[in-house]
Amino acid sequence: MRAWQVHELGDPKSALTLGEVEEPEPGPGEVLVEVEAAALNFFDILLCQGKYQERPDLPFTPGAEVAGTASKVGEGVDLTPGTRVLATPPLPGGGFAERAVAPADGSVFPVPETMPFSAAAAMHTVYQTAYVGLHRRADLKERETVLVHAGAGGVGSAAIQLANAAGARVISTAGGAEKVEVCRELGAEIALDYREENFVEAVKEATDGRGADVIFDPVGGDVFDLSRKCIAFEGRIVVVGFAGGRIADAPTNHALVKNYSVVGLHWGLYNKLMPDIVKETHQALVRLYEEGRIDPLIYETVPFENLPEALELLGSRKTHGKLVTLPKG
Ligand SMILES: NC(=O)c1ccc[n+]([C@@H]2O[C@H](COP(=O)([O-])OP(=O)(O)OC[C@H]3O[C@@H](n4cnc5c(N)ncnc54)[C@H](OP(=O)(O)O)[C@@H]3O)[C@@H](O)[C@H]2O)c1
Repeated sequence: MRAWQVHELGDPKSALTLGEVEEPEPGPGEVLVEVEAAALNFFDILLCQGKYQERPDLPFTPGAEVAGTASKVGEGVDLTPGTRVLATPPLPGGGFAERAVAPADGSVFPVPETMPFSAAAAMHTVYQTAYVGLHRRADLKERETVLVHAGAGGVGSAAIQLANAAGARVISTAGGAEKVEVCRELGAEIALDYREENFVEAVKEATDGRGADVIFDPVGGDVFDLSRKCIAFEGRIVVVGFAGGRIADAPTNHALVKNYSVVGLHWGLYNKLMPDIVKETHQALVRLYEEGRIDPLIYETVPFENLPEALELLGSRKTHGKLVTLPKG
């Protein structure tokens, strides 16, 4: 079968080669998936460069989330071949390949007929992260105000849609006019360009001085520092990521005086420590999709042969939403 492999670390264009590799076989407890769609993630770039926390032996195939059909199951797996699934194949046999193997328990989830494979692949990590962040970590309530930073990004776009679906009022920030427009189209009532405007004042004005009840922050750094100035009494700032590059400090005296919480979110740990939360979240997301209340924003569906260029485009901060590739064309 065809698969992209990293034989030597480097930027995606130099590190990745497309070639014929041995067909994977599902072992006990595993499922073989015919990969119809695979989503691109920023950490795939880091994996190619050898800068990610996980450093698999060479050669390896990156690609963390796929959707397709289960074609073969290993011993002890209760899944009918032909079932539509999304899967998270573990390294070194990632999803940028025509077929991939994943453990049935915790890494394979059913996908309804109504959901295209590209939407299923694009939904998993970012919607799970946004859902668990908003509902479990921030305990979001109807009619609360949510400020979503980097709202045109993967997790940000999911957070805008999910906060809307929960009946919250959404304010969003993004860098540049095009991304601001994307946030509005996703459902943000107010969308601000944080390169041009002071979002602290805008949030206070929009909330009669109260501030946002929940702030969803995948950026960190200055964005986190400013967020502390417009968080409401009993508000919750969800620390999602550090896309801006700097990890901000959270002064505890400020949290005390203003009576707010800073809550961390490491979604990947739920897979290890509370897998039932991931399964329940998957069911909730499928329901919301079928009700038409969420729909992943796909920036581009990339031909399989163009994967390295697409990963570099993703790294350039010029895209919005998710990029997906189709290994079978
Ligand atoms: N906590 C968790 O469990 C978890 C799970 C998934 C992802 N994450 C993290 O969440 C962050 C966002 O992930 P994502 O999938 O949404 O990524 P993404 O699609 O690449 O979006 C990231 C957004 O961050 C903004 N940004 C601000 N400063 C940036 C910079 N210096 N370089 C690049 N982008 C910058 C960009 O929006 P603007 O141009 O609009 O500023 C960009 O759209 C990442 O740090 C990721 O590691 C955390």
